Amino acid sequence: MKEKITRNDFFKKSAIITAGVTAGVMGVGMLNSKKVDAEGFSKTAWPWPYATLDPEAVRILGHDNFWAGYACSAGAFDAIVTALQGTSVGSTYAEFPTKMMIFGHGGGVGWGTLCGTLIGCGAAIALVCEKADSDILINELYGWYTQAQFPTTISNTYATTHQFGNTTHDMTLDQNACGSPLCHISVTEWCNVANFGVGSNERKERCARVAGDVAAKTVELLNAHFAGTFVAAYVPPATIASCNACHGGGGIVDNVAVKQDCVQCHGADPHSISVAEFDNSQDNFAIKQNFPNPFGSETTLEFSLAKPSKVTIDVYNLNGQHIKTIITDEQYNMGRHSVEWDGTDVMGQKAKSGMYVYRMRVGHKTLTKSMMKI
Ligand code: HEC
Ligand code: HEC
Repeated sequence: MKEKITRNDFFKKSAIITAGVTAGVMGVGMLNSKKVDAEGFSKTAWPWPYATLDPEAVRILGHDNFWAGYACSAGAFDAIVTALQGTSVGSTYAEFPTKMMIFGHGGGVGWGTLCGTLIGCGAAIALVCEKADSDILINELYGWYTQAQFPTTISNTYATTHQFGNTTHDMTLDQNACGSPLCHISVTEWCNVANFGVGSNERKERCARVAGDVAAKTVELLNAHFAGTFVAAYVPPATIASCNACHGGGGIVDNVAVKQDCVQCHGADPHSISVAEFDNSQDNFAIKQNFPNPFGSETTLEFSLAKPSKVTIDVYNLNGQHIKTIITDEQYNMGRHSVEWDGTDVMGQKAKSGMYVYRMRVGHKTLTKSMMKI
């Protein structure tokens, strides 16, 4: 019968795996990271030192931690820190309270926001890397998460062949890629695919395996980073860039700072206006054909703004004579708006039948269309 791996065994095991391999990397890190304060206490400057780890040992511990009261976030985080304790840099991590990451369970105390494993592993990366590097590595981890098939085939195999320490749930579980870093979407999509309830042991075991999988991936990324061999592989869905061309920072709408897949929540065609209206101009506004057209007594003029703006709309006859001001320098919010023309001129008299043009002005730019009064 196979023995269960205790936390102590793990400590020893990963020490053996990593001894030697890490000496080169650590030599540099340790030299400048230790400081001693006035009382003689040793303080370690951030980022803390890293030593090459065995992703498979971390996968197993991440999984087992889930069932040992750590849940997903602290489970994944603790697996990495515990592994580091067994290396040449272990003394730095000797008294680390890894359970502080417990709040990440269920995407933040059950709120279903960022998957807890990503909270825990993001913290682990940011513990050992400066911002510029951790941004890149965490971006890669989150992107990979949205596309990976969870639980991974490796995890399913460990479960069925009893290579995890906790072998209570040793079934193969259905796999899916959820397209999102969010706990809610990840868990609920999997429940739909696998046909298990969110309160089932199968769902919990699935999240235990994901904790191991994400911790293992994190270690692979960190190993590669510190070995100088990291290459980003995540390719985001193309719609993110196309939506952000207008909605992202500096775009004409300039109101969204998101790297998640827009289409998953908004659909591929989320606009109540036609985006094509904005396509061929650098303008931040558009005006539609009036309706009804032709019209008898009154008609509606509809316009869209890509950002809050002051709008003026005037009506002229074909000789260029000013007939009526509909609005002057009125402030409107971003979005679609409409105003009425009641078919009268400045004097309040009914305008004659015939063609008219209406002109919309925003700042120094104008758009003009014509309409027919009968
Ligand atoms: C996890 C779901 C989710 C994702 C992913 C997402 N959004 Fe949203 N977005 C929302 C919700 C919810 C709102 C607020 C409700 C609403 O207005 O639809 C919102 C609001 C918006 C609004 C403002 C809507 C308004 O009425 O003014 C825009 C624009 C927008 N999102 C664009 C994007 C873009 C672009 C992306 C991708 C880069 C994106 N969103 C990704 C859920 C999402
Ligand atoms: C060519 C520029 C452009 C592109 C590309 C674009 N949008 Fe918009 N989007 C706009 C403008 C302009 C508005 C504001 C007009 C309005 O609110 O009526 C808008 C409004 C929205 C709104 C608010 C709801 C609504 O009906 O107006 C959402 C949500 C939104 N966009 C999501 C997206 C998503 C998701 C994508 C990618 C699939 C995307 N947009 C691509 C220009 C763009």
